[in-house]
Amino acid sequence: MGAARAGIEIVTGDITRLSVDVIVNAANERMLGGGGVDGAIHAAAGKELLAACRDVAELRAGVRCPTGEARLTPAFGLPAKWVVHTVGPIWHGGGRGEPKLLASCYRQSLQLALGQGAKSIAFPAISTGVYSYPPSLASTIAVRECDGFLADNPSFEKILLVAFRQQAADILRQALGALGTKQ
Ligand code: APR
Repeated sequence: MGAARAGIEIVTGDITRLSVDVIVNAANERMLGGGGVDGAIHAAAGKELLAACRDVAELRAGVRCPTGEARLTPAFGLPAKWVVHTVGPIWHGGGRGEPKLLASCYRQSLQLALGQGAKSIAFPAISTGVYSYPPSLASTIAVRECDGFLADNPSFEKILLVAFRQQAADILRQALGALGTKQ
């Protein structure tokens, strides 16, 4: 519900149900599934998604996608066409490069989507669950990166920021509002 800024929309609910070109998964470096949104995406996409993830080259033992980076697979049983798997930083208090790494997740995911010719993408609130990133800080980074991307790529149609719960949606809306007042 409710677009607060052209191109960026905040929606509440289950990201696996969305008919967009790309949905983003908050994965871990192994890329073989997990809990939270990762578990929901794998469950909804089916076993082929796990097989596609296994096929992604390991950079070193147990690492297919380093923190702050992103990898693309088809979306199989999901309504979306592709899944971008990105690995957000674990929150350690903010002094271990977490803001830069989180911003990099959004940037790399958006660039991968653009490279596929996608026009729409949906992000979960990367790092704000198991990885404990404070939602208000993470939301500020999310809206800033999405806004910057849309400014550079005006033909990209829609970025959905998906909140699983109403409280997370309120926090995202605040961040989007604050972004508007800075311009
Ligand atoms: N749709 C949208 N958002 C969801 C869904 C869903 N179906 N399920 C959970 N979320 C939300 C959570 O409420 C949280 O706000 O996604 C956000 C990110 O939470 P996590 O899924 O825990 O992701 P993250 O904090 O990045 O931790 C990643 O969790 O399951 C593991 O394999 C994953 O190890 C990785 C870690």
